[in-house]
Amino acid sequence: MNAATRVYLDHAATTPVAPEVAEAMARVLREAHGNPSSAYAEGRAARVLVDQAREEVAAALGASGSEIVFTSGGTEADNLALRGTFAARKGDADGIVTTAVEHHAVLDTAQDLAERLHARLVVLPVDRQGRVSVSQVTAALDLRTVLVSVMHGNNEVGTLQPIAEIGAACRARGVTFHSDAVQTVGAVPFDVATIPVDLVSLNAHKFYGPKGVGALYVRRGTRLVTLQTGGGQERGRRTGTENVAGIVGLGVAMRVAAERRASEAERQTRLRDRLFEGIVARVPDALLTGHPTQRLPNNASFCFPGTQGEALVVALDLEGFAVSSGSACTSGNTEPSHVILALGIEREVAQGSLRLTVGRDTTEADVEALLEALPPIVARLRSISAEPALR
Ligand SMILES: Cc1ncc(COP(=O)(O)O)c(C=O)c1O
Repeated sequence: MNAATRVYLDHAATTPVAPEVAEAMARVLREAHGNPSSAYAEGRAARVLVDQAREEVAAALGASGSEIVFTSGGTEADNLALRGTFAARKGDADGIVTTAVEHHAVLDTAQDLAERLHARLVVLPVDRQGRVSVSQVTAALDLRTVLVSVMHGNNEVGTLQPIAEIGAACRARGVTFHSDAVQTVGAVPFDVATIPVDLVSLNAHKFYGPKGVGALYVRRGTRLVTLQTGGGQERGRRTGTENVAGIVGLGVAMRVAAERRASEAERQTRLRDRLFEGIVARVPDALLTGHPTQRLPNNASFCFPGTQGEALVVALDLEGFAVSSGSACTSGNTEPSHVILALGIEREVAQGSLRLTVGRDTTEADVEALLEALPPIVARLRSISAEPALR
């Protein structure tokens, strides 16, 4: 199968690098080899590039440059937010509140803090559409709560959480509020001037930047202890020689995403909605997962009872489509995803989950091709699973 005939519908897993980003990074790799910590001209030139990127990221979030800490990606940003806040706690503060649909980078980190450092962890349930309620979060807060972590947009089912209201509830009680916005920054507006959030995780590879680079927004005055010791870069909050080319790529990707956000959101919402109606009309018993409207513009996710997600992914791959079942990060794991189960969907139905995420390069023809290919695949897998097992 040649690449030109492939249809890539897994932009929530990662996105192709935008040409502007690749060009900017190649220029850095060719021409700017200095260490940003060096005092001579080459070092100063690299420092300028890092600081320009910092300003670009800050501008897109409504933040100031000094509030941006570059990391190796979303996982590290989440770890720094949770572990760094917990390490900075005072007195008997030990409570962490999060939700059952967080990415493993948050959920497993919170669980690790509970197991090893005795954090009192509250994992809140979500409703059938994947939303946590503000009143549930508020009810879970007490005088010992140190941190609330609620993601902005879910990576599997696309549901958006009411983070502005949750942030306001946290702020009223003096609790630090972190949001994993890895899936949303670049796709929907995110302004820290209007959202009362203290820590925000993002990475570049979800918005057409390179893999292995991201950032944590840290609101001025937020208590955070660094996880690494070393040369003191990033104001001591994330030490280690900066990934200059990656950081420049992140900055350019962020700027381009901000410029294209409104038009792409509208176009991708149309493609997503075409997937919804086409699949519901053509595949019997297709179950749309996530919130019907409060969701990422590019995410169409389903369960097809009587199928296995991994088998759907493999069958579609053979026909030229790149899609995923549940989270890409947990693919290969035959257990249904924790997110789909948290929606209250039965285990057997949850096993047949499929996530389609469109992107800048997705065309109407791609969507129509998927709508042609999917129904016979679901029918075939259902007929196989309905056959009595060989004895
Ligand atoms: C919501 C969310 N958080 C965190 C991550 C991890 O980010 P990274 O791949 O940069 O470590 C991902 C990646 O899939 C994600 O979707």
